[in-house]
Amino acid sequence: MIYILLGLPGAGKGTQGELLSKKLGIPRISTGDILRDAVRRETPLGKKAREAMERGELVSDEIVIGIVEEKLKSEDCSHGCILDGFPRNLKQARALEELGLPLRAIYIKVPEEEVIKRLSARRVCPNCGAVYNLITSPPKREGICDRCGTPLIQREDDREEVVRERIKVYKKQTEPIVDYYCRRNVLIEVNGQGSVEEVFSRIMEAM
Ligand code: AP5
Repeated sequence: MIYILLGLPGAGKGTQGELLSKKLGIPRISTGDILRDAVRRETPLGKKAREAMERGELVSDEIVIGIVEEKLKSEDCSHGCILDGFPRNLKQARALEELGLPLRAIYIKVPEEEVIKRLSARRVCPNCGAVYNLITSPPKREGICDRCGTPLIQREDDREEVVRERIKVYKKQTEPIVDYYCRRNVLIEVNGQGSVEEVFSRIMEAM
């Protein structure tokens, strides 16, 4: 089974995706993480993706669909996976459907004002990828990753003006796929407000 996580930027897809991955024993594939890693390493893929990501826009469908198709064919994903950040528009949703794999979409619903608050307080570890929130889940030592001791950073696209652009792009391009999966009877909608644990139990119950 392929589980697709949907929701506004900052809705908690990465956070819940990690928990689900541990619980179900299948990998979480985050297109955002793959692209950020390529940008950091200045690979040819990273060079192509950088500008769009810095502006809060989507990277080209060809690039992203190629990445996901390759991952889905790998041994790692032979028992399924959790897709975090893909599909992001109808073209990507159709490309995924063409692979003929069983799908379930989990829509984590959080109001816009809440995600803006969450993203301005998010800090991430550039080394191990751990995610913190200065308000709800701060690191034990200020500015330092609990897991690996690396200084934490703020994501480039978590600056307020870029967050607003990402929300605009989400509403225009990604929101229509909530309806797309609803019509196919594979959508689970979950209230994404409350603690991380509360949201996770709602997802498990709904599944
Ligand atoms: P991507 O990395 O996918 O970003 P996003 O979808 O905008 O999602 P985020 O990672 O910002 O948020 P999240 O929902 O995972 O929230 P999180 O769990 O971290 O994409 C980045 C860019 O890459 C795109 O803009 C685009 O350019 C490109 N890209 C990626 N995929 C693409 C595709 N398919 N096609 C084209 N381009 C693509 O939580 C957020 C914060 O809230 C954290 O601090 C967390 O600790 C906190 N938090 C989580 N849950 C709770 C809770 N219940 N209560 C309080 N705080 C919480």
